[in-house]
Amino acid sequence: MTSIAHQSVAELGGEWSILNRQRRDHVRLDELLHQLEGSEGQEQRAVLREINRLVFPHAFAEESVLWPALRRILPGDEGERLTLQVEQEHQEVNHLVVQLDSEEPSEEERRPVIERLIEVLREDVRDEEDELLPRLQELVPPAQLRALGLAWEAVRRTAPTRPHPTVARRPPGNALAGLPLTVIDRSRDVLDRGAERSTVPTARRLRGLSQALAGIAGRVERVGVMRVGEDPSTSVDDPRA
Ligand SMILES: [Fe+2]
Ligand SMILES: [Fe+2]
Repeated sequence: MTSIAHQSVAELGGEWSILNRQRRDHVRLDELLHQLEGSEGQEQRAVLREINRLVFPHAFAEESVLWPALRRILPGDEGERLTLQVEQEHQEVNHLVVQLDSEEPSEEERRPVIERLIEVLREDVRDEEDELLPRLQELVPPAQLRALGLAWEAVRRTAPTRPHPTVARRPPGNALAGLPLTVIDRSRDVLDRGAERSTVPTARRLRGLSQALAGIAGRVERVGVMRVGEDPSTSVDDPRA
């Protein structure tokens, strides 16, 4: 089994292959993680926002399209074992980002959370590039890798952009939550970007609206049906999560 990290685009199945689309985002994530390591204060918050906008749609599309396909394709319980491991990593990323966003921790308290976030994101990329995706490459012809790439990319471009730890990491819960949370998250992104460019009173109003939408997202997340399909180990009610 060969890691996809150093294969050519042709070996990965072409531009639209799921293997190539995944690696492109992972390379960008690696650049951002290096920036995050060397930043603090406002700059660190800006890099984190960019990481969130890359990582959450990417992971949402993995959880709703790619991992279910892997569970169907890999023999025995191999798909279940490998995908559960990355779903647990994704869930930890959700918790860490919620911690950074909502508890207003001091710079001192933020440091270990950010260090762990960098570590988990790197572990997730290694698990995918060295284990899951090479297994997919062994079992699936290039045409199917490209079909998966298209499906994954379509979901990634219309997926939520923020952490939602309460929502199931698996279908059907995550698929049902996808549309309302995408609309809310992407509206908040527009409001937050507007606030960054506005005078103080306008910025305050826009941030207030964004916070109101955050409250609505919180209520949407807790609707029972959004949690259907969850493995107990990634449920927020599970003490191991
Ligand atoms: Fe990935
Ligand atoms: Fe991932």
